[in-house]
Amino acid sequence: MDIKLQGVSSEQIMLMADTLALKGFVVGARNLYATALAAERDPLMRFRLRLRTGLLQRPHRTTPDMMGLLKQLEGQHAQVFVGSGLATWKKTAPFLDDERFMTLEEKHAGLLPLPNWHWNLQVVLWAVQRTEKVEGDLVELGVFKGHTTMFIAEYVEFQKSAKRWFLYDTFDGIPEDQLNEGWDGVNESVYKGAYSYEEVAERFAPFPNIEVVRGRVPEILHEGCPDRISFLHIDLNNAPAEIAALDLLVDRLSPHGVLILDDYCWASARAQFDVERRWFSDRGLHVLPLPTGQGVFIKS
Ligand SMILES: C[S@@+](CC[C@H](N)C(=O)[O-])C[C@H]1O[C@@H](n2cnc3c(N)ncnc32)[C@H](O)[C@@H]1O
Repeated sequence: MDIKLQGVSSEQIMLMADTLALKGFVVGARNLYATALAAERDPLMRFRLRLRTGLLQRPHRTTPDMMGLLKQLEGQHAQVFVGSGLATWKKTAPFLDDERFMTLEEKHAGLLPLPNWHWNLQVVLWAVQRTEKVEGDLVELGVFKGHTTMFIAEYVEFQKSAKRWFLYDTFDGIPEDQLNEGWDGVNESVYKGAYSYEEVAERFAPFPNIEVVRGRVPEILHEGCPDRISFLHIDLNNAPAEIAALDLLVDRLSPHGVLILDDYCWASARAQFDVERRWFSDRGLHVLPLPTGQGVFIKS
């Protein structure tokens, strides 16, 4: 049904849409958020509408909980963020009025099954910008559909960089012999048949300095990987492959280079946390654990 809304503010439209969203009427809610967003100019209201749209991007059994939490916190605080596994309030959201950030986040959100990845993207963006002048190339292990790298590459206009970025993935999920306990369902429910090497290579075609490589970590790294690395993003969701990658690549990180372990503090990836924390402490090194779930290591 098409209806014309007159004499209502975008906040009132948002409240109507919230009711629909909490009852599971996702399409109607999304349409109302889009209507309100088109008319709204205030950055904070736009942010609130965009967060809601993000939460409804791929409705999940946890979506009503996240919507409820968002509304509850907004009752008390002005700048609230709720995303997958993370809520912040009483905090400045650095991306709130960065229109370029928000637009690109929205543009690529469909490439990831987890809603509102803003804080995680902010951390990776910091690392890539910080290492711009550090010697070496960029490497990502675990690409999926290319969400994080595509966002960053467009944000920083990586096609203009003299550096190269190498992206490694099986493009067929986690190898069976590397599956950590509790991860066997993920291959079937998230990866198998959902993406392909060809699709991802095509996605990055506008970037002549980004190379998409199909192969299994660690074996594929022996066939070719930069000798000097300025930024390393490891996101394989499996402990044996990530440890093997650390063995091979941490020595190649240039001084001041940054490593981000995407899964470091996710409770579902506890096996990775245990072995990776030990890997670093055995060498007298320390990873900064973040509430985003990421771990950050800066080479001295
Ligand atoms: C969480 S996804 C990566 C998400 C991506 N970094 C992003 O930000 O959108 C994990 C990916 O790791 C890949 N993967 C897991 N184990 C692998 C291995 N041993 N070698 C290569 N790829 C692997 C899977 O195929 C999957 O696409």
